[in-house]
Amino acid sequence: MARILTGIQSSGVPHLGNILGAIQPAIKLSKFDDNESLFFIADLHSLTTIKNSEIIKHNTFATAATWLAFGFNTDKNIFYRQSDIPEVTELMWILNCFTQYPMLANAHSFKDKSNNLADVNSGLFNYPVLMAADILLYDADIVPVGKDQLQHLEMTRDIAGSFNHQMGDTLTLPKSKVSENMMIVPGIDGKKMSKSYNNTINIFTEKKLLKKQIMSIVTDSLGLEDVKNPSTCNVFKIFKLLANEGQIKEMENKYMRGGFGYGHAKNELLELIIEKFSKEREIYFELMSKPEKIEQKLKEGSEKARKIASSVLLRVKNKLGI
Ligand code: ADP
Ligand code: TRP
Repeated sequence: MARILTGIQSSGVPHLGNILGAIQPAIKLSKFDDNESLFFIADLHSLTTIKNSEIIKHNTFATAATWLAFGFNTDKNIFYRQSDIPEVTELMWILNCFTQYPMLANAHSFKDKSNNLADVNSGLFNYPVLMAADILLYDADIVPVGKDQLQHLEMTRDIAGSFNHQMGDTLTLPKSKVSENMMIVPGIDGKKMSKSYNNTINIFTEKKLLKKQIMSIVTDSLGLEDVKNPSTCNVFKIFKLLANEGQIKEMENKYMRGGFGYGHAKNELLELIIEKFSKEREIYFELMSKPEKIEQKLKEGSEKARKIASSVLLRVKNKLGI
């Protein structure tokens, strides 16, 4: 049996890019009988950039509700909030003492963030050590991540290797899993959809707001009657990721026939999103109106997670004589 583990920061409400690129593929992986998945909300990591309790709570619930709405099976798997497992920060301290300072100082993501953020706190610097603790605390075998996280995974292996080398074989070295054909969902401006670029589509907003986001997708200035090229159009690129073959063909024909404006295409995309995600939207809104249900799921998950966490931490502490 393989133990799959991944975390998603609660630094915003998940957008269409997060859903198609990370959440759905991870849920698919969790459905194999032989896999046990631990998926968690990395709220401690999000403290490096967010300091507002209401926003942190809202993002945590919104992230959890998204996983649940997309059908993550919390009976077969383990679904929890990072901060509910105090063992993780204890292990992080121990791992800090096995982590070389230059490795952290040279990390791409730290250099990037410290050049761009006004608040360069030590949490940003130690971010990869907390991530290593997240992974090593559960003897995870496989960690599915986006390419941007690969260096963090290498550091986790490095830190575990250093511990094992000095203290004897104790920690499981995880493998990363980057899916090569991972799709990149474009945002409303055509760049990669990302919270940091303010170009997201949030499928869990009311229809009026969703419409506003979709109407702001950037297109060229061809008129209604003009023949259009679907392959260079941002509206079509997003449509194509969601529609079935027949719908895609039909839309292509409309573009190439002329007499079909971008406003029409955007309306069709809006209707497709509403229809395709109607079940998920319903579950999401229902859960968000009853946060105590989400809280309950996270509590059950954290009890299961702590069982593993406390036994691994004990193994580590025994090796250290503490
Ligand atoms: P953001 O760029 O909005 O801050 P994150 O870095 O928090 O998103 O990403 C969370 C997960 O979602 C990662 O696994 C990442 O690879 C995936 N992801 C983010 N944006 C996209 C996108 N536009 N297309 C595909 N996957 C994405
Ligand atoms: N750093 C990851 C991201 O920003 C989130 C994360 C935290 C994570 N801990 C993890 C991912 C452990 C995988 C495993 O996407």
